[in-house]
Amino acid sequence: MPQSSCRIPVEISKNPYEIIIGRGKIQCIGDELLRTGIKKGIKILIVTNNDVAIHYGELFLKSLRACGYKPTLLIIEAGEEQKSPESVALIHDAAFSAQLERGSLMIALGGGVVGDMTGFAAATWLRGISVVQVPTTLLAMVDAAIGGKTGVNHKGGKNLIGAFHQPKLVLIDPLTLNTLPEREFRAGMAEVIKYGVIGDSILFNLLEKCSNLENLEVVDNEVLDEIIKRSCSSKAKIVAKDEHERDVRAILNYGHTFGHVVETLCGYGTWLHGEAVSIGMIAIGELAVLLGSWSEDDANRQKALLKKTGLPVIWPNIKTEDVCKTLKGDKKVKEGKIRFIIPKKIGEVEIKNDISNDAIKRCISNLSR
Ligand code: NAD
Ligand code: GLY
Repeated sequence: MPQSSCRIPVEISKNPYEIIIGRGKIQCIGDELLRTGIKKGIKILIVTNNDVAIHYGELFLKSLRACGYKPTLLIIEAGEEQKSPESVALIHDAAFSAQLERGSLMIALGGGVVGDMTGFAAATWLRGISVVQVPTTLLAMVDAAIGGKTGVNHKGGKNLIGAFHQPKLVLIDPLTLNTLPEREFRAGMAEVIKYGVIGDSILFNLLEKCSNLENLEVVDNEVLDEIIKRSCSSKAKIVAKDEHERDVRAILNYGHTFGHVVETLCGYGTWLHGEAVSIGMIAIGELAVLLGSWSEDDANRQKALLKKTGLPVIWPNIKTEDVCKTLKGDKKVKEGKIRFIIPKKIGEVEIKNDISNDAIKRCISNLSR
């Protein structure tokens, strides 16, 4: 039986929507769609993958049919390599076969890969139909499913093809994390810790108080729900202020600039995204200490928390010149300037694009020692 739930508004002026968080909610997807005002009787294409369909596919179909919807399930293979234009074509083929119309709906049931590509397929089918996000990884619950960034990878780089397309609803059932591999859970925790550092010192303190965060079994249910709720609230507030990442939304990229370097130079697949972000947070922490922007004490607190979560904190053996070259190729470089999100204290960061090459090189050399 579903237990109590909480609702977090995402107050984007033209497209406001809610994030619903509740244990057991996945079995009530049909009712929640009706409550959101999504018309009974419409056609729905659910996109998912095998890892997820095996546990939740039937429950989902049952709930939707019971509420009078006409669902079709499309199962795509799992993995980041599936986040491609070819998969979007598969989704569009399925949309064509199911005769989806302008008033139809797509639902992304899965992690960030399913969410990003389904969101993009919905944004581009018939010039844009509605999408609902039902994230089943911690990372997608606290980050990818919220805020409308959708897209797929191009052979030239990650997420190069995409669109902003806000969902009509984000439905989070923390119980789905019970089947998530532990390593994926820890990778999601990196994004949770990120929210603590960029703006929520209460969340950071709460995480510090947990004796162990390495896997779901050791995290108390109430604490986990609170962690998800606080993280979603942070993301909702940030995207409501700056939907298209013109300024403040950039702080969500804390740890990601160096993280992308690690992902690129170590080879995609070596580290999960959240693991690379963990190493990236250590690196930007080092740079901030070097610049005198935050204290060694805060940098050590961040490191201890990442370590306690079982996340990697050691800078890999990569050449400084390769790091500098990769940094300059980042999507977020503007007029040759690299944008860094620099921590000032736990719960506060600032955006800086005037960091000297010399400081970056010194930081990498310190990290490589
Ligand atoms: P993922 O979608 O690849 O999922 C990780 C693995 O867990 C997969 O093998 C998946 O099949 C499996 N899985 C998912 N849910 C499960 C469950 N409940 N039980 C068992 N297995 C399950 O990875 P992810 O970390 O969720 O997402 C990473 C992607 O998200 C990347 O492509 C990244 O670019 C994207 N992303 C997007 C945004 C955004 O704002 N749109 C933000 C962050 C990340
Ligand atoms: N994941 C970063 C963002 O949504 O802006």
